[in-house]
Amino acid sequence: MKTSGGSDAAKRRAGESAAAAVDDGDVVGLGTGSTAAHAIRRIGERVDAGLDVRGVPTSFASRELAADRGIPLVDLDRAVGPDAPGIDLAIDGADQVVTAGSASGGEHAAPANAAIKGGGAAHAREKLVDSAADRFLVVADPSKETAALDRPVPVEVLPAGRSVVAQAVRAADGEPTLRRAERKDGPVVTDNGNLVFDCAFGEIADPAALSTTLSETPGVVDHGLFVDLADEIHVGTATDVRVVTW
Ligand code: A5P
Repeated sequence: MKTSGGSDAAKRRAGESAAAAVDDGDVVGLGTGSTAAHAIRRIGERVDAGLDVRGVPTSFASRELAADRGIPLVDLDRAVGPDAPGIDLAIDGADQVVTAGSASGGEHAAPANAAIKGGGAAHAREKLVDSAADRFLVVADPSKETAALDRPVPVEVLPAGRSVVAQAVRAADGEPTLRRAERKDGPVVTDNGNLVFDCAFGEIADPAALSTTLSETPGVVDHGLFVDLADEIHVGTATDVRVVTW
């Protein structure tokens, strides 16, 4: 369920805008996906120019790209802890993000702080890194913006918990679809060795409540609802970047 659509130029503007927020000496969470990849490439250019940073990858793919671009890396376990430096900021993409007031709150209501991630099946590690960071910057193009989340929510599940989780999702009025691999027979297997259900709930009226329901389901490793985690959203447009802050 890789996210489709969105112009690459807009994604690049968003990624490079967030990469400009990285300061010398920072530990940076490196997100997954085509938009976060633009941020990683720009951070790599800044490292070439002398910037001193360490990156915490959120996936096999972001680790590979960052290593290829010469960004020094540190494991999450070495970045977070009593004697560890912590993560100063994380930069990551989204499949859908609320940037406009919801219908229930009216056109001018503050947008809910909510996003759906996991199009690349990396959302469990992404949530670990993004939530541990002092600041979390979402990077997106306008095709990801919405007033209300309605894309299927990726849910990473233990293989042995597949039927139990599917039943719980149906009980929560969702329809789970096991994500199938491309160019491999069978399902997508995550970097953690688990499976992914894409769970259609229609329009999600209360992302926080659904997040809690999914998190409390035995067999769920993590899900792609990111609620009250973002500090900024950098939306790349045709000509510039719009920043939404909380
Ligand atoms: C990875 O699992 C996802 O959370 C990505 O961050 C998300 O799918 C956005 O990807 P793109 O920037 O490629 O649309």
